[in-house]
Amino acid sequence: MENKVKHVYRELLERSRDNIVLGSAQSVIHWDMETTMPPSAVEQRSLQLELLSRIGHQMSTNPEIGKLLRQVQTNPKYSELGKPEKRNVYLINKNYLEQISLPEKLVAEMAKQETVTVNIWKRAKAKKDYGLLKFELKKLFELNMQAAEILMDVKQVKTPYEALIDQFEPKMTTHRITEAFDKLQDGLRLLLNKIQEADKCSENKVLCQPVTVEVQRQISQLITQTLGYDTASPAANGRIDETEHPFTSGSYQDVRITTHYYVDDYTNSIFSVLHEAGHALYELNVNPEWRYQPIGSTCSYGIHESQSRFYENIIGRSKEFWTYFLPKLQKITPVLTETKIENFVHAINRVERSKIRIKADEITYNLHIIIRYEIERDLFGEKISIDELPQVWNEKYAKYLGVKINDDTEGVMQDTHWYSGLFGYFPSYALGNIYSGQITNALTEALPNWRNQLAQGKLKEINNWLKENIHHSSNLYDPEELIKNVTGKILDPQPFLQYLQNKFRENEV
Ligand code: CO
Repeated sequence: MENKVKHVYRELLERSRDNIVLGSAQSVIHWDMETTMPPSAVEQRSLQLELLSRIGHQMSTNPEIGKLLRQVQTNPKYSELGKPEKRNVYLINKNYLEQISLPEKLVAEMAKQETVTVNIWKRAKAKKDYGLLKFELKKLFELNMQAAEILMDVKQVKTPYEALIDQFEPKMTTHRITEAFDKLQDGLRLLLNKIQEADKCSENKVLCQPVTVEVQRQISQLITQTLGYDTASPAANGRIDETEHPFTSGSYQDVRITTHYYVDDYTNSIFSVLHEAGHALYELNVNPEWRYQPIGSTCSYGIHESQSRFYENIIGRSKEFWTYFLPKLQKITPVLTETKIENFVHAINRVERSKIRIKADEITYNLHIIIRYEIERDLFGEKISIDELPQVWNEKYAKYLGVKINDDTEGVMQDTHWYSGLFGYFPSYALGNIYSGQITNALTEALPNWRNQLAQGKLKEINNWLKENIHHSSNLYDPEELIKNVTGKILDPQPFLQYLQNKFRENEV
């Protein structure tokens, strides 16, 4: 007769599988909403999404799951389960306890308040008036605070803000982030002071050449092909579409990316495609044996971002990549025929202290994130209030980036995150950069000549190393454990800083 614990475990997995399949249907509907649906389909899509999310919530809070979980965990044979099985039980249990702890009324109120706030944000931004949205943002903040306080117990974290961070970066503490971000900030400022002068005369004519959308589509295909992300063959597991803001969606054998083509700013899409393809490769390389299981997903938002940043910046802004790729680009983009590689690489690595996060370079980007992190931390630590956000924002921008914010559109209202109810998300971006530095060090140890390979357009070994060391472990570990397994160290900004120093000082990009 079959072992009872295995039997119950399998039943648990089956229920969780249904939820994962349901989630994948939601993601296709969401993708359709953003890409190809006709404008008047919006109401039908919203109804579909609302229904699926209601069914999903019912399924994942079904008391039957609680019963099965207890049966597995209290079974004397539980210890005989392997690491992947135990991790599945852990992830199902975590999700179940969190979902049942939040009152349905609160969940519904939050969803509603998110819609209200994001809509008023759009209006307030157009009118350049933060005052218009303050009241609704306060309500959204208070609801998130309530949820965070409830989740603190379940997640066993010390502060409401850490409960929010845990949704994106499991088990990450503010102590650890603050320590890493402080070090990062010191290093970045030193670096920035040294390269500032040399960069004032960057005329970037090379980046302003008009390139038609049709040609840019060809460039995108060439990039994904070079990276080994199949968006064109008859057996493709990916595709590229066009949206206002680029994103990646899907999993397993169906992972899609989007980009935005600007005729007068063709590199914008090149770096978006490199970035999103990095996300896509991670999703595609999740351990196939674990598909439709909780462990068959990605580790965290920070680790996800480390992969996208690796392909966008460490690969995509390197001289080696362009040694191989610029001649290819020139073949399909005759306006670039005269472009010299030195000028091109210099132009795509221009450093500038600016006000807008999404336009920031590899160095200053992190300062934009550190500002948002400190504000969130102090907001949920009740050291600052919603009323004070613009003032705190502007002071930090003056201090950390030396820029003067003239109105809140280019200040506290620039990003959608807070107004969409995403609190605790921002740190993932800079954590991703920090991890990417650590991961690149480990890659270099394992594959010392990877840059030479890159210069010949060979990404196979690089991809394989990432696949085996990062992607394949999927969600078997929390991010701290994963990064320690791969690099021997927990979160450490030093390798990323060292990478930037080598690139921007010694090579004088
Ligand atoms: Co990303």
